[in-house]
Amino acid sequence: MENFNYYTPTKVVFGKGTEEKTGELVREQGCTKVLVHYGSGSVKKSGLLDRIFRSLDEAEIAYVSLGGVVPNPRLSLVYEGIELCRREGVDFILAVGGGSVIDSAKAIGYGTANEGDVWDFYARKRQAEACIPVGVVLTISAAGSEMSDSSVITNEEGWLKRGYSSELSRPKFAVMNPELTMTLPAYQTASGCVDIMMHTMERYFNQNDNMELTDGISEHLLRTVMKSAKILMEEPDNYSARAEVMWAGSLSHNGLTGCGTGGGDWACHQLEHELGGMFDVAHGAGLAAVWGSWARYVMDAHPKRFVQFAVNVMGVQPREDDTVTALKGIEEMEKFYRAVGMPVCVKDMGIELTEEQIVILARKCSFFGSRTIGCIKKLEEQDIAQIYRDAR
Ligand code: NZQ
Ligand code: ZN
Repeated sequence: MENFNYYTPTKVVFGKGTEEKTGELVREQGCTKVLVHYGSGSVKKSGLLDRIFRSLDEAEIAYVSLGGVVPNPRLSLVYEGIELCRREGVDFILAVGGGSVIDSAKAIGYGTANEGDVWDFYARKRQAEACIPVGVVLTISAAGSEMSDSSVITNEEGWLKRGYSSELSRPKFAVMNPELTMTLPAYQTASGCVDIMMHTMERYFNQNDNMELTDGISEHLLRTVMKSAKILMEEPDNYSARAEVMWAGSLSHNGLTGCGTGGGDWACHQLEHELGGMFDVAHGAGLAAVWGSWARYVMDAHPKRFVQFAVNVMGVQPREDDTVTALKGIEEMEKFYRAVGMPVCVKDMGIELTEEQIVILARKCSFFGSRTIGCIKKLEEQDIAQIYRDAR
């Protein structure tokens, strides 16, 4: 088992009606003015935003608001938010929404608390020294940003989707009422479930074998999410399944399933980020579209791990030949993706990838040939291009 740090400072307030406590939770933070940040309309339509405003009013908290965050959140709105926060003297940001809203809030937090261009952090030019504290009212189980240290922003100039991680941005609190996710379209629910699973799978597929407890947590989490996702395709109002998925979303990306794994692989996330930047696909769907091709490409680098996954997660009967067992596990996962309406290749998302686009995606993903991705097998630019080709 590798050495690790585990740091989860986010206060989780979980369950029915918990959004009513938002004002109180913000008050505990001792701030003077709040930016309420939200997306493109779902929180207005559901009445959640009004309930949050009411809760802040009752707690006598002053606030301004900024909506309009879109999936794959844009840098231009982050700049707008920074300007607003500076003008209004905002010292706390409340994100009401999903990963995109939370990530946009974190970026605004960095941009307001540091001099210079906030994109520098995402372009890996320098490190942030501070971040305005962020709180969350979660409306979709997916990205895990409510407890994570990362944020992912898309720069419209060049359509670069880039992530930045720092402990500074871990949310102070996360209000998690599974009922709030019942209004999600089935596609978003399924895409969220894939993302949750991928946050564990990225950590699970590594070169380290000695971590029985972490493996057990990961394998159970994956089985629970698959079971719940299938229930939710039939019964979107099933509270227990919503709750399982919501809690799994946070545990999958707060570091727990990475304890002792030495960091994980993360190649599929890097591959998806380029697809998200170029085609604006839903993050989880993009992950599902590349996963099978990635798995088949890297499997030989650590067959035992793929066999363990096939047997313990996908319920495959072990065969004599490890390769056969491992391949069966990959097929079973793809069968699950299809069962919940997720793609297993890029074409399934309505995109016909051209060779020219593949070359550009691989160029960008390898940071123009300056880095490799993945750890189970290090992938160079030509490997990345081949995986996109296989995922066509
Ligand atoms: O904008 P609104 O109108 O709210 O609609 C959203 C959006 O269209 C809708 N939605 C959210 N809650 C809803 C709802 N619709 C009905 N009822 C509700 N209760 O769902 C759509 C997707 O929302 P979004 O926030 O984009 O989803 P998600 O949480 O999957 O976030 C995706 C973003 O997070 C990044 C992804 O790359 C992507 O940009 N990630 C962030 C991570 C992190 N910060 O730790 C890690 C992840 O790996 C991921 O990369
Ligand atoms: Zn993700």
